[in-house]
Amino acid sequence: MTLLEMTDVHTYYGHIHALKGISLKVEKGEIVTLIGANGAGKTTALRTISGMLKPKQGDVKLNGRSLLGEPPHKIVADGIGHVPEGRGIFPKLTVRENLDVGAFIHTDKALISQRQEYVFTLFPRLRERLNQYGGTLSGGEQQMLAMGRGLMMNPSILLLDEPSMGLAPVLVESIFEIVGRLHAAGTTILLVEQNALMALQVANRGYVLQSGKIVLEDSAAELQANEMVRKVYLGEN
Ligand SMILES: Nc1ncnc2c1ncn2[C@@H]1O[C@H](COP(=O)(O)OP(=O)(O)OP(=O)(O)O)[C@@H](O)[C@H]1O
Ligand SMILES: [Mg+2]
Repeated sequence: MTLLEMTDVHTYYGHIHALKGISLKVEKGEIVTLIGANGAGKTTALRTISGMLKPKQGDVKLNGRSLLGEPPHKIVADGIGHVPEGRGIFPKLTVRENLDVGAFIHTDKALISQRQEYVFTLFPRLRERLNQYGGTLSGGEQQMLAMGRGLMMNPSILLLDEPSMGLAPVLVESIFEIVGRLHAAGTTILLVEQNALMALQVANRGYVLQSGKIVLEDSAAELQANEMVRKVYLGEN
C-alpha cells in the first residue's frame, strides 16, 4: 500500500527552482532513501512533504489524500514525523520537555507514556538525561533526542534528514542500527543521507537526486551495484 506519494513536485525559494518535478513513492513498512550531493534538494523535498514549503506545482499525498494547503501542525497530526536537518531540538528545554513537545498532538496520556517508554527502550541514554537541557547534550545525544521527539508523534512515516551528520563513526553505526530496529518494528521511513553507503545498506529502495531532479530509482541492492552510484556516491574510482 502506498503511504506517501509525491507527483511532479516543483518547489522554489523565490526564483530558485529547487525541486524540478520530483515524483516518488513510499510503501507502508518500507525504508526509502533519497541520496544526493550537497544542494541536490533533499532537505527541500522533506520540507515540502511536511508543509514547511509549498510546492508551486505537483501534489503530495498521504494515504491517497493530498496534504497541499494544510498547515504544518495539521500535517504532523496526519502522521508525518519530520526529524529535521541539524536536529532542531530546543536547547533551553530539558530532554523531558523536548519529548513532550513531540507529543503535542496527543491528549491520550496512556499513549504518551507508552510512546515515551518506547523511546527510552530505543535510547536508554535519554532516560538518564531527562532533566538535562537539550543544548548541553552531545551531538549524538541531540540526534537521539530529535529522533525520540519525532517518534513521540507516533507518526505513520518518519522523515529523517541526515541523521548521521557530524557524528563519530561509532555513533553513525548506532543511529543506523536504530533505523534498522524501527524498520523491523514496522515503521515506514524516508531517509535522506549523504552517507549513501549506510543508507543503501539499511533501505529497501532508493532515489538519486541531482540538481532538483530524480535521475535514478531502484532497489537498494541495484543502486549499490550501479556504476554511477558507486563512482559518484560511494566514492569509488
Ligand atoms: N532558504 C533558502 N533560500 C534560497 N535557496 C535555498 C534555501 N534553502 C535551500 N536553497 C537552495 O535550494 C537547493 C536545494 O537545497 P537543499 O537544502 O534542499 O539541498 P540538500 O540536498 O538538502 O543539500 P545538503 O546535503 O547540503 O543538506 C540548493 O541549491 C540551495 O542553495
Ligand atoms: Mg539538506
